[in-house]
Amino acid sequence: MLARHESGCAASSNCGVRERTTGNIRRMEIAGASAIVTGGASGIGAGVARALAAKGAHVVVADLQAEKGQALAEEIDGVFVSVDVTRTEQIEDAIARALELGPLRALVNSAGIGWAQRTIGRDGEYSSAHDLAVFSKVIAINLIGSFDAIRLAATAMSRSEPTSTGEKGAIVSMASVAAFDGQIGQAAYSASKGGIVGMTLPIARDLAAAGIRVNTVAPGLIDTPIYGEGDAAEAFKAKLGQSVLFPHRLGTPDELASMVLELLLNSYMNAEVVRVDGGIRMPPK
Ligand SMILES: NC(=O)c1ccc[n+]([C@@H]2O[C@H](COP(=O)([O-])OP(=O)(O)OC[C@H]3O[C@@H](n4cnc5c(N)ncnc54)[C@H](O)[C@@H]3O)[C@@H](O)[C@H]2O)c1
Repeated sequence: MLARHESGCAASSNCGVRERTTGNIRRMEIAGASAIVTGGASGIGAGVARALAAKGAHVVVADLQAEKGQALAEEIDGVFVSVDVTRTEQIEDAIARALELGPLRALVNSAGIGWAQRTIGRDGEYSSAHDLAVFSKVIAINLIGSFDAIRLAATAMSRSEPTSTGEKGAIVSMASVAAFDGQIGQAAYSASKGGIVGMTLPIARDLAAAGIRVNTVAPGLIDTPIYGEGDAAEAFKAKLGQSVLFPHRLGTPDELASMVLELLLNSYMNAEVVRVDGGIRMPPK
C-alpha cells in the first residue's frame, strides 16, 4: 500500500504533487485566540494589530498613547490597555486582559524609542559625553521591556493547551537594521536592538520545551510617526528613501506586519532574525 500524506493523498500520486505546490504548510491557529501588541497604538505595531485582527485574533493594544490606542482598539474590535513596558505590573495587566479574551497565542514587541547622540562630545569634557541616563532609558524600554513582556507572556502561554499544530504560542520582537549597521550616534539604540537579536536564539531554546516559537524582525526604514509628521518630515523621508537599494522608498507598516504575521503563524519559523529593509545597508551617517 502506498504511504499517505496527512491529507490522505498517496505519496506517489499526482495528488501528492499538487499538495506540494499548493502548500502543505502548518499554521498556528490564531482565530479566537488573543494577542498582545506592545507599541500597538502607532506605526508598525498598529499595522500588526490590524493584521492580527483580520485573522480573527482578539488583540490587546498595549501602549503609552491612550487616545490613539483606544481609537485603534475600537477600529479592530480589540482592547486597549495602558502599558509602559518598563512597568512589570502593567505588562501583567495586559496579559490578564488578553487571557479574558481567549488563550494567549501571540506577543509582538513593537514598543520602542530612538535616540541619537555621539559617544563623546567635541570639547573634551566628561560632561559632554553621551548622557548615561538616556543610554539606560533606551535599554530599559527597547531591550528590558521586550524581555519582561516575553518572560511574562511566555509563562502565561506555557499554561495553555497546545493548538492542533502542537504549539502554545509565538513571539516576535522588533529589532532594527541598526543592530547590525548602527550609524554614528546610535550606540544606545543599536545596543538595545543588538540585545534583542542576541537573545532571540537563547530564548527560543528556553521556550522550545513549552512549545513556543521566538523570532525577531529587523526593519530598515519604515514610514511611521517615528520620523515625525508634517512637510519637513515628508521631505526627510523622501530623501531617506533614495538610499534604499530597491525599491527606492520607505517600507510601509503593512509590509512589516505581513512578515510579522508569517513569523507568528508559520509553524516552522523559529529562532530567526529577518531583515525587512529593501536591501539597505546603512552607511556610517
Ligand atoms: N520606523 C522605522 O524605520 C523602524 C526601523 C527599525 C526599527 N523600528 C522599531 O520598530 C518598533 C516600532 O517603531 P515605529 O516606527 O512603529 O514607531 P512608532 O513611534 O510609530 O511606534 C512606537 C510605539 O511605541 C510606543 N512606546 C514607546 N515607549 C513605550 C513604552 N515605554 N511603553 C509602551 N509603549 C511605548 C509609542 O507610544 C508608540 O505608539 C520600534 O521598536 C522601533 O525601534 C522602526
